[in-house]
Amino acid sequence: MTTHANELAVDVRGLRKQYGDVTAVDGIDLGIRRGEVFGLLGPNGAGKSTTVEILQGNRTRDAGEVSVLGSDPASGTRAWRSRVGIVWQDESAPAELTVRETVRHFARYYPRPRDPEEVIGLVGLEAKAGSRIKSLSGGQRRRLDVALGVIGDPELLLLDEPTTGFDPAARRQFWDLIRLLSEEGTTILLTTHYLEEAEALADRLAVVAQGQVVAEGEPAALRGRYGTEATVEWTEPDGVPRTERTDTPTRTVAELMHRFDGEIPGLKVTRPTLEDVYLRLTGQEDAR
Ligand SMILES: Nc1ncnc2c1ncn2[C@@H]1O[C@H](COP(=O)(O)OP(=O)(O)OP(=O)(O)O)[C@@H](O)[C@H]1O
Ligand SMILES: [Mg+2]
Repeated sequence: MTTHANELAVDVRGLRKQYGDVTAVDGIDLGIRRGEVFGLLGPNGAGKSTTVEILQGNRTRDAGEVSVLGSDPASGTRAWRSRVGIVWQDESAPAELTVRETVRHFARYYPRPRDPEEVIGLVGLEAKAGSRIKSLSGGQRRRLDVALGVIGDPELLLLDEPTTGFDPAARRQFWDLIRLLSEEGTTILLTTHYLEEAEALADRLAVVAQGQVVAEGEPAALRGRYGTEATVEWTEPDGVPRTERTDTPTRTVAELMHRFDGEIPGLKVTRPTLEDVYLRLTGQEDAR
């Protein structure tokens, strides 16, 4: 295998997928660099899982060019598959096996797997290593899914809503795992509904809505590009609350200072959060 430093790990142009009348993916372009953590954000039904499944070669596409680690997933070989780790949105491991048996079993499918005990530790399942899968909680099962996604020591890891069902501590532990894998050079694509997760982990992210990319870039840049307008709130002397949206909040506050000649009652200046930007981009602004 030849690796080109500037070669994209994932290169998608004009991807389309139709299910009957439903256009699930409507002309998506994505470029994920090697070593990058890339977040795919979007509301329910946006086309995230469909895209991830096409990248893994598990679903056919109707149109578009797709290259994943230099191969077209539609004709991916077994050797290619072993270089791609995946955590599906809906996973089901055999219920009667223990965690350790399952991780060891899956390790045998790969030419150069990670150490099963190490992986069990990485996902925080040491205490459950000898337990049957059917006895695990939902979040513990999800951790096992993540373990099975990384056991083959993949070059590219595709994670479809990996932290759904995780408690806050498990989510933090998962974030640490993603950072560790990223430091080791793994390219990671993750879909998520959690803005703070995308912001914490992703070098770049794409927001998809109705099968199209509506915004793409570094999380901070996205917020800067779409979220410049600030909101200034204060209370008038007669007790009436006022709100003003403005690109120049400093000027507004200066004017208020002049007018009030002292403290401005109830003064608050807020910038849109990434979540505000996200809801606006995906047309869900009224959901707040
Ligand atoms: N096998 C299928 N048959 C028919 N329609 C499908 C199928 N899979 C997905 N769809 C439809 O395609 C659209 C995109 O679905 P997809 O699962 O890719 O969205 P998603 O972004 O992963 O959503 P979620 O956040 O809920 O997981 C939806 O309208 C969905 O109903
Ligand atoms: Mg999905």
